[in-house]
Amino acid sequence: MHALVVFESMFGNTQLIAKAIAEGMSPVVSVDLVEVGAAPTRIGDDVDLLVVGGPTHAFGLSRPKTRDSAADQAEGDLVSKGNGLREWLAGLERGPASVRVATFDTRINKPRVPGSAARGAEKRLRRLGFVIVVPAESFYVGGTTGPLLEGEIERARGWGELLSLEATGSGSSGSGSPSSLRASLKGVEEGRSS
Ligand SMILES: Cc1cc2nc3c(=O)[nH]c(=O)nc-3n(C[C@H](O)[C@H](O)[C@H](O)COP(=O)(O)O)c2cc1C
Repeated sequence: MHALVVFESMFGNTQLIAKAIAEGMSPVVSVDLVEVGAAPTRIGDDVDLLVVGGPTHAFGLSRPKTRDSAADQAEGDLVSKGNGLREWLAGLERGPASVRVATFDTRINKPRVPGSAARGAEKRLRRLGFVIVVPAESFYVGGTTGPLLEGEIERARGWGELLSLEATGSGSSGSGSPSSLRASLKGVEEGRSS
């Protein structure tokens, strides 16, 4: 089974999450990790699982103007210097129905700040005929340029493992099963919000 992880990242936080997700999936599936500017616009028949993630900008997927604003706030080079997920998704060919997808984003951990790039990406991918394997997930930063909140890298590894198991349909029982992982992820989320 083969997975493709496509990410957009301005300051590097989403890139770190994407890497951790790929690590989490790697015991179960072979994984390619690709920055959105280098991502294919046709998902090949060799891809079984497509994972797509980027930063939340202005309550959704980034736009040229929000990326300009990010560039103004960056101390060094941006990771993604060209198009973002929004433009890539607009040019993406309809998927083979066999390709399962999952989306993620990074966003600021503030109560009552709505919006998620991952949910926007999920909606577009569903319209393109892809099958959603697990619901969109968010990972949290402490401020616009980061850093990631403590424990988010580990949570991303766990989410990667969960979705690789869901996509392969393996491990329906035992300590590494999707249900027990889901329970432990839920615990982390409840811990953060309490
Ligand atoms: C122009 C701009 C708009 C943003 N809007 C939001 C927002 O609406 N909600 C949110 O939670 N975070 C928002 N953020 C914070 C980003 O989510 C944060 O910069 C991102 O998670 C960092 O990931 P990256 O290092 O991969 O770019 C915004 C950031 C920028 C630069």
